[in-house]
Amino acid sequence: MPKLMIVLGSVREGRIGLPIAEWVKRTAEADGRFEVDFADLAAIALPFMDEPNHPRLRRYTKRHTIEWSERVDAADAFLFAFPEYNYSYGPVIKNALDYLHAEWNRKPVGFVNWGGNSGGTRAQTALRPVVGALGLVMTTGNVEINVPQRQLSDGEFVPNEQQASVLKRQLDELLRLGEALRPLR
Ligand SMILES: Cc1cc2nc3c(=O)[nH]c(=O)nc-3n(C[C@H](O)[C@H](O)[C@H](O)COP(=O)(O)O)c2cc1C
Repeated sequence: MPKLMIVLGSVREGRIGLPIAEWVKRTAEADGRFEVDFADLAAIALPFMDEPNHPRLRRYTKRHTIEWSERVDAADAFLFAFPEYNYSYGPVIKNALDYLHAEWNRKPVGFVNWGGNSGGTRAQTALRPVVGALGLVMTTGNVEINVPQRQLSDGEFVPNEQQASVLKRQLDELLRLGEALRPLR
């Protein structure tokens, strides 16, 4: 079974990102076609990228990098869940990406974004060249949520029909892209 890593890229106390990412996790697990790894960047707590060598060389010197490298290497596909901060992505997701190189290469990625004014569209648009530089291959039709706080019920994020169907399509696409890309890795 392919391994899907859900990367949660917001770490603030009281973040809405956690209930959103938990919805993504529940959905991916219920889907049954993936082994799911839930990578909460708050728990992983990488410092600002502090390796002396370019990640392309894969000569890592820090335990946190080696652990992150092994975990990402084991994944076959990714869903990045992160908010829009000041018309862009927050630093946490970029930092986690910058640590590694080949571990991301030729693997599919989908996005789940949210925002207050926007649905996180600008955050996602800003991250696209970054994931492109790393050889990740993006899905189309990503989840974008405007003011997700309105969809909380007892601390749980309750998707609307459109969000649920877009996420389902992303899982389909991640599976297909993953199969197509596997021989290139
Ligand atoms: C520092 C900061 C900057 C923000 N900038 C934007 C923005 O540019 N556009 C937007 O739609 N929402 C913006 N918001 C609102 C966030 O999308 C909203 O607070 C959301 O809850 C953040 O996700 P989180 O709770 O998982 O951290 C910003 C929030 C913060 C804390």
